[in-house]
Amino acid sequence: MLKNLSVADEKILSGSLRSKLIGQTNIMESSCDALSLPKGSIGVFDSGVGGLTCVKELIRLMPHEDIVYLGDTARVPYGTRSRQTIVDYARQDIHFMEKHNVKLLIVACGTVSAVMQTEPLFKDSTINCYSGVIIPAVDAACEATKNGKIGVIATQASIRSGCYENEIHRINPKIEVFSRAGTLLVPLAESGYTSVDCEPAQFFVREYLSDIKQKGVDTLIMGCTHYPLFEEAVGAFMGESVTLISPGAVTAALAYDALKAQNALWSDEHKAKIELYCTDSAELFEENVNRFLGCGIDAQISQCRL
Ligand code: DGL
Repeated sequence: MLKNLSVADEKILSGSLRSKLIGQTNIMESSCDALSLPKGSIGVFDSGVGGLTCVKELIRLMPHEDIVYLGDTARVPYGTRSRQTIVDYARQDIHFMEKHNVKLLIVACGTVSAVMQTEPLFKDSTINCYSGVIIPAVDAACEATKNGKIGVIATQASIRSGCYENEIHRINPKIEVFSRAGTLLVPLAESGYTSVDCEPAQFFVREYLSDIKQKGVDTLIMGCTHYPLFEEAVGAFMGESVTLISPGAVTAALAYDALKAQNALWSDEHKAKIELYCTDSAELFEENVNRFLGCGIDAQISQCRL
């Protein structure tokens, strides 16, 4: 159920940044029914491995929470596809999550989050507490910038939608925004080529970020959740003075605040169950899970059909 939340609702959830509202009157990115949070799992989905950047932070902040993750690895990338295809895929992803007793769903895909701004994806869904990653990332960037220049790299679909500029200018119309699609970083990440020493990674980071760097931004939104997997390479290229924003990580922090405020966290005695699903080979996905989450995670990894 998509609600038009009031300022009072915003306080119930966490009471600070605009993104913490998890629900806004005319933005379809997020919503939360304050009274219906059961002790279920935190659901997270993405087109592939990018959403693991969110899961990593969720586990760090909330080690006792059950997590259900879906990476639609058979159909990644989403960001080069038409709006209608992204909508169709996203509805199937949400439908999958509806079967998993999800108390809060994080749409850890910038591309789907961009579509959610104008498409009521959750209108007929049984999940009534959810968040995309764009508004949390924009809020964090607007808080971080000192010189009023923000860079954004995201998928073609996200950049085409103009959602980052719109949301940044909703907060402060004077902020200058410089954006660029970073398309080929997604297949690189899916293939595990993300390390700072990896030449293809260095090449594409330079290719996609040179113009943005020249504009003198002091904050960069890595607006596709795959891109923070290149954080070291991006940081080395942009320089220490540039603040990097990971949409998945800031949304995980927001989820923590919201669940804590709702008293909807599992107790410290609860042993967390981490279920990771992918739509293509589980072996390949497991390699990426080990690479990006670390081998110490006790997770069940399975292939599923949507
Ligand atoms: N990780 C996704 C995003 O945040 C999508 C990448 C893709 O599938 O193109 O946009």
